[in-house]
Amino acid sequence: GGNSQKPFIAFVLGGPGSGKGTQCTKIASDFGFAHLSAGDLLRHEIASGSEKGELILDTIKEGRIVPSEITVELIRKAMETSNANKVLIDGFPRCEENRIAFERIVGREPDVVVFFDCPEDEMVKRLLGRNQGRVDDNIETIKKRLKVFESLNIPVIDYYSSRGKVRKINATGTADEIFDAVHKLFSSLRNLHSAGSDED
Ligand code: AP5
Repeated sequence: GGNSQKPFIAFVLGGPGSGKGTQCTKIASDFGFAHLSAGDLLRHEIASGSEKGELILDTIKEGRIVPSEITVELIRKAMETSNANKVLIDGFPRCEENRIAFERIVGREPDVVVFFDCPEDEMVKRLLGRNQGRVDDNIETIKKRLKVFESLNIPVIDYYSSRGKVRKINATGTADEIFDAVHKLFSSLRNLHSAGSDED
């Protein structure tokens, strides 16, 4: 890629409806990050009408996880295209297999992992309240997504905790209240503020 420096990478994790997308939009605008949402990249592939997109749609409708190589390849391409020196990867890695595939294909670990911690009943309320017609925002699929989060994504968060990478944010309250905490966190990340300071 054209960026001679390795980008600063933040993984943003949390259950479905914990507010990852909402907070990432604010982080991107205040701190100059490129925002790559794994879910949006997959939905974009679906919208393209490709054969791969059909497989992805079937998986998402069921609340299951899309094969790692597909997701990591979409993320790798998006990182390359954005050529950004600070990248938020929203909703990824979803499982140990995702994590390992990323480390293998991109050859990096994240610099930080932000975890939006939110009670299940609050997440369900938000998702049912969302009115954008997402194919996975019905109660049956929401329950599956929560189960998948508990069984597959929590172990990834535990792994990164053991490596000292996780910063946990209380994701209850209004989006603005949550962003106060997020803003403090990103302002305090030391290696973030040297990222991109010596561009060519
Ligand atoms: P993805 O698109 O990542 O969805 P998700 O993780 O289920 O999370 P959401 O986007 O629904 O919620 P969010 O946490 O971003 O919250 P948001 O800000 O939108 O993944 C969807 C599917 O794609 C997966 O189930 C899987 O099948 C597939 N997939 C994704 N990544 C994959 C991967 N790596 N590998 C394989 N498959 C993958 O907020 C939710 C709602 O709440 C909004 O309406 C918002 O306005 C509202 N809200 C936000 N904050 C607040 C607040 N503080 N108070 C009140 N309401 C709020």
